[in-house]
Amino acid sequence: MSLAGRRKSSLAGAGAGAGADAFGAKHAVTSLRKGGRLPVYVASVFFVLCVIVMYGEDIRSLTIEPLTRVPELTVPATTTGGGGGGRQVVVPRRDISASEKPAAALHHSEQEKPKHAVTTTKTEPAPVAVVEKPPQSKVAGTTKSQKKTSKKKAKKPRRQRAAKKTVVPPALGVPETCDLSKGRWVFDNTSYPLYREEECQFLTSQVTCMKNGRRDDTYQKWRWQPKDCSMPRFDAKLFMERLRGKRFMFVGDSLNRNQWESMVCLVQSAVSPGKKYVSWEGQRVVFHAWEFNATVEFYWAPFLVESNSDDPKIHSIQHRIIKADTIGAHAENWRGVDYLVFNTYIWWMNTLDMKVMRPGAKSWEEHDEVVRIEAYRKVLTTWANWVNDNIDPARTSVFFMSMSPLHISPQVWGNPDGIRCAKETMPLLDWHGPLWLGMDWDMFHQAKNVSRRASPRVPITFVDITTMSERRKDGHTSVHTIRQGKVLGPEEQADPGTYADCIHWCLPGVPDIWNLVLYTRILSRPALQLE
Ligand SMILES: *[C@@H]1O[C@H](CO)[C@@H](O)[C@H](O)[C@H]1NC(C)=O
Ligand SMILES: *[C@@H]1O[C@H](CO)[C@@H](O)[C@H](O)[C@H]1NC(C)=O
Ligand SMILES: *[C@@H]1O[C@H](CO)[C@@H](O)[C@H](O)[C@H]1NC(C)=O
Repeated sequence: MSLAGRRKSSLAGAGAGAGADAFGAKHAVTSLRKGGRLPVYVASVFFVLCVIVMYGEDIRSLTIEPLTRVPELTVPATTTGGGGGGRQVVVPRRDISASEKPAAALHHSEQEKPKHAVTTTKTEPAPVAVVEKPPQSKVAGTTKSQKKTSKKKAKKPRRQRAAKKTVVPPALGVPETCDLSKGRWVFDNTSYPLYREEECQFLTSQVTCMKNGRRDDTYQKWRWQPKDCSMPRFDAKLFMERLRGKRFMFVGDSLNRNQWESMVCLVQSAVSPGKKYVSWEGQRVVFHAWEFNATVEFYWAPFLVESNSDDPKIHSIQHRIIKADTIGAHAENWRGVDYLVFNTYIWWMNTLDMKVMRPGAKSWEEHDEVVRIEAYRKVLTTWANWVNDNIDPARTSVFFMSMSPLHISPQVWGNPDGIRCAKETMPLLDWHGPLWLGMDWDMFHQAKNVSRRASPRVPITFVDITTMSERRKDGHTSVHTIRQGKVLGPEEQADPGTYADCIHWCLPGVPDIWNLVLYTRILSRPALQLE
């Protein structure tokens, strides 16, 4: 089945690409208009576009709209919602028309309306949109300068103290050899969820499913039980102690952003009110835990390497082109980070081939179409070489997150009456054998291989979350999410065939478990700590 399955999903991907492009064009116009009206919704970010899998006649496409951040300088005020992160809008689309042209699809920024909007008044143009909450009444001008000061403070001592390091013994004893990816989901409503949706002010409304109208909450109550060992419960205090004076950064696409939001919620309870906030700095979103002089960050780089999709202003959806061997502009931002967690997958999935700029080419026009898996290998090799040459393994731990699965075809898991993932309230508990969700396992194996072998000097831990997540058809945001910045309305919610997002995950939920895997690995290793 493997070949047939793969081929099918690849073809589907190609078809969906066209739909996504067409949509992008239309949407760009809408958001430009919207942007004019609502300059307030600035905070945003990034731009994501992705994929879909098509089965037979049933073409469905799901596009993740990216959000680019509006140039801060033009914005008089800043608002943010959950404070959390980039706004991503998921806009599934059923029909595919290749005729519409993507007009430089930009300014998707002001999409999501802030959830519990806290408005800070900005008194001057600032390169950093700071949101602090509480206290909510803070004037951004003040906040900004405080923040800058704190940053400087935080950085300098770090360097000065670099000479005095102590080795912190592992806090946990889960052996590196225990494969945490193999196991089963166990219902556990006493320990889970690890935090409550309404208690984490940093969640964006993309992921607050209950608030957005989801009725069942069983999806929050599953513990992952590895076959050969056990994972501990997440201890925020313990983890923040490990992060003291450090930077933790997720790098990649919107799934990694989903995981970043989860991590922020997992740790934030250990930080006192008023000592934590989220800021937006270009392609970066940063959670600051002031008391710990620590940050948990997300850096947007959907292909890891440079591409023509990285710059909001010259972004083209239709003609997405990557520079498979050029990573420097992004990677500069990864230097000095203590924990780096990478991923890249979903943006690869809507075309069979990738457009790759020729080495030494001067313009984007000079590119070749390269088979997806080949381009993926090249990109990962570029990335691993950078890691190998630039990371100090004594200081920085590097992880690569495997692919997060999509759940778009309920017939695959034996629910012919299902509509995408919309009617799923339970994980697949007794499923034996493979599940054909359209995962590109070649890419999985390629990433695993490169992580293990292409960076001999710096260990890269490949974190397999794919199989465990495949069982979690119940965990996606489905229709309880946002589109163009707004929570889906009743009519849209009633049409999951068009609107359900079966790519991203509700929080609390599945990404918490991914983070628990990171937590387990990190705390089971000794670490260098600055005194
Ligand atoms: C946990 O689930 C069981 C079985 O559904 C139920 O009887 C019990 O009341 C639940 N406990 C809590 C704390 O929700
Ligand atoms: C963070 O760094 C600042 C500046 O060096 C220092 O004054 C403060 O004590 C540190 N905070 C903690 C909790 O370590
Ligand atoms: C695995 O990666 C290594 C190093 O990058 C490479 O030499 C080798 O050919 C790869 N093997 C497979 C099966 O992809």
